[in-house]
Amino acid sequence: MKYLAALCVIVLAATAALAAEDTPPPWAYPVAPPAAKPAAPAPPLDPEPKRVPGSDVALTLAQIRDIGRGPPDWHPNDHPPMPEVVAKGRAGGVLACGYCHLPNGLGRPENSGIAGLPVEYIVQQVRDFREGKRRSSVPAMGPPANMAKLAAVTNDEEVRIAAQYFASLPRQKWIRVVESASVPKTRVAGSMFVIEDTAAVEPIGVRIVEVPEDRARTDLRDSKSGFVAYVPPGSIKKGEAYVKTGGGKGAACTVCHGHDLRGLGPMPHLAGRSPSYIVRSLWDLQHGSRAGAWAPLMAESVAGLSVEDMVNIAAYAASLDP
Ligand code: HEC
Ligand code: HEC
Repeated sequence: MKYLAALCVIVLAATAALAAEDTPPPWAYPVAPPAAKPAAPAPPLDPEPKRVPGSDVALTLAQIRDIGRGPPDWHPNDHPPMPEVVAKGRAGGVLACGYCHLPNGLGRPENSGIAGLPVEYIVQQVRDFREGKRRSSVPAMGPPANMAKLAAVTNDEEVRIAAQYFASLPRQKWIRVVESASVPKTRVAGSMFVIEDTAAVEPIGVRIVEVPEDRARTDLRDSKSGFVAYVPPGSIKKGEAYVKTGGGKGAACTVCHGHDLRGLGPMPHLAGRSPSYIVRSLWDLQHGSRAGAWAPLMAESVAGLSVEDMVNIAAYAASLDP
């Protein structure tokens, strides 16, 4: 009887652990809570032109926030001329790629850094979105839903042009990874976590907290102001061990993603990329919401991953030089 009771406790504990892992980690899929009361009419935007360090460009908030106008190009000499689809998009619902992914392709935590990915990989991913084989495990998260919507109306030619542009861009260090047991309290603003008050801290737990280095510059979509990712103490070393061995659960990740995760042939690099994006990708692949043509190659590798494994792997990958 005693054994049976003990067994029940173990089974219950295991079920609880499994159940917990059925819920996508909310810190990787930022969704702003619904407003408590109907939003008051938005105050008029500040009409004063804004500037960012190291740029001669001046733009108003209305210009910066107008996705139909294309991305604010603060640093036009830092990247090759953007093709039309990247800079302006196309009538009919193809939003400018450069608005979300930035003109230098480095992206933001709510989308994906796509600079320096292989052309064939980019083309395949957009095709997967277009065909409904790649979507988010959290449909309420706006940016991935928008990516899927715009991919649905792209044509092969413009996707190839955009892919060639982004593939040609240099990868750059864009995320500073910091191991820390305690982190600033954050809240979701738009589709990103931001620090409300640097004095308020809380334990990190099993999660990654990725926030702008400089919120004001990120709000202006300055493509030279990156992000900081707080990760649990010890996670980088654990992630390194997992990636190099496959954690005893499958092949070493480096077999396909390359030495130091810098990519191999058409396989995407993971080094230096947003750790929240990496966790979303692993979760989406594990739960079948990302099930494109190449996803079966990841099946064995994601099957046994716990959220903690994902955190460790993403911490290590993001910490590497891209
Ligand atoms: C409205 C914002 C937005 C625009 C505009 C946009 N994307 Fe995206 N894109 C996203 C988001 C968000 C994701 C990540 C989705 C997820 O979490 O899986 C993404 C993911 C991708 C990926 C997958 C990256 C990877 O590593 O697998 C590629 C490739 C991509 N976008 C290419 C493009 C191209 C090409 C265009 C222009 C035709 C474009 N995107 C326009 C938001 C956008
Ligand atoms: C057999 C080759 C192979 C192995 C081994 C492998 N991967 Fe992958 N990985 C791929 C392929 C192919 C893709 C693209 C999947 C798709 O198109 O959806 C991918 C995609 C990914 C992505 C998403 C990248 C992006 O840009 O969206 C992540 C993250 C990732 N793998 C992590 C890992 C980790 C961590 C391991 C080890 C635990 C691993 N992979 C092992 C082949 C592999």
